[in-house]
Amino acid sequence: MMLAAQSIGIGSCWIGAAQKALMDEKLLKELGAPEGYIIVAPLILGYPKGETEIPERIKPEVVWVK
Ligand SMILES: Cc1cc2nc3c(=O)[nH]c(=O)nc-3n(C[C@H](O)[C@H](O)[C@H](O)COP(=O)(O)O)c2cc1C
Repeated sequence: MMLAAQSIGIGSCWIGAAQKALMDEKLLKELGAPEGYIIVAPLILGYPKGETEIPERIKPEVVWVK
């Protein structure tokens, strides 16, 4: 969903911190979540104000196992 949003100019952020707070039976019912479903990936979506700078990445050490 995040990649699809990005492809149409919508920014997103995965808010894992909200997962616990949203795991409320009453709220799940109000949201129409089917019985037995849980919240896994709360996302916030919006139109970015401008360009974002991609932070410098630490080069990963990749080990290929054959
Ligand atoms: C499982 C998961 C949970 C995340 N939870 C939060 C969060 O609670 N608050 C937040 O600001 N960003 C959250 N993020 C976003 C990360 O902080 C970060 O912005 C994102 O992974 C992109 O960084 P990267 O390009 O260095 O991987 C979460 C990302 C993932 C994958």
